[in-house]
Amino acid sequence: GAPALPTADLAGRHVVVSSGGTREAIDPVRFIGNRSSGLQGHALARTAVARGARVTLVAANVALPDPAGAEVVRVVSADDMREAVRKAASSADAVVMAAAVADFRPADYRDQKIKKSESDGPEPIRLVKNADILAGLVAERTAGQVIVGFAAETDDVIAHGRAKLARKGCDLLVVNQVGENLTLGAADNAAVVLTADGAEVDVPRGPKEALADVVWDLVAARLL
Ligand code: CTP
Ligand code: CA
Repeated sequence: GAPALPTADLAGRHVVVSSGGTREAIDPVRFIGNRSSGLQGHALARTAVARGARVTLVAANVALPDPAGAEVVRVVSADDMREAVRKAASSADAVVMAAAVADFRPADYRDQKIKKSESDGPEPIRLVKNADILAGLVAERTAGQVIVGFAAETDDVIAHGRAKLARKGCDLLVVNQVGENLTLGAADNAAVVLTADGAEVDVPRGPKEALADVVWDLVAARLL
C-alpha cells in the first residue's frame, strides 16, 4: 500500500526551535565557540514542518541549508539568540532549545585585533555569564506553552539530567551522552528524554529525525 502520510498533529501550532552553537566575540576576528553542528535542531525544524507546524528556527552559526517551509532567523551570539527566541516565543505553543548556548562571554570586546606583539601575550580574557535563555522562557512562559531543553552530559547522564530538568523547570529534557564520536557533528543520536512528570523515554541510536519525532510526539501530547 501507499506509505503512511505524516500526521499533521502540529497543524495550527507555532513552534520555535533553536539550533547550532553561539559564538562570543573576543575581537573582530576571534570568538569563543562550541562544536554544535545544528544537525539536531534542523532535524527538529524539518520534522515539525512535516507535521504541519508553523516553525521559527533560530539558527546560530550553522553550515546547513535552511529547512524548507521554516522561517529562519540567523543569530551569532547568545545575546542575539535570547532576543530572537524571546520574540518568537511570545506567540509560540512550544519552544525547543536544541542550540548549544555559550555559558560565558568575554567581559570586554576588543574592537582592535589583538596583536601577537603585545608583550608576552595579551591580557587574560575575563569572562562574564550569559543569561540563561531556557530559564528565562520558563519564567515568562505563556499559558499552556511547552518548553523543551537539551543537555549533553559526559557521565552520570540520568542523574545530571534529572537535576538539570528540576533546576530549569522545563517540561522535557533531552539528554545526550557526549564523548568521542558521540552526538556532536554525528548524523546519529541516542538519547533519553526525561519528563517533568517523572517518565524516562529511551531513544535508541538512530537518525536525528527519529529523536526529533519522539520529541514532537511528547510535545504534541502535552499541548492543550
Ligand atoms: N541554555 C540556555 N541559555 C544558556 C545556556 C543553556 O538556554 N545561557 C539551554 C540550552 O539550549 C539547553 C539547556 O539550556 O537547552 C541546557 O544547557 P546546558 O548547557 O546543558 O545547561 P547549563 O545550565 O548551562 O549547565 P552546564 O553547562 O553547567 O552543564
Ligand atoms: Ca551550559
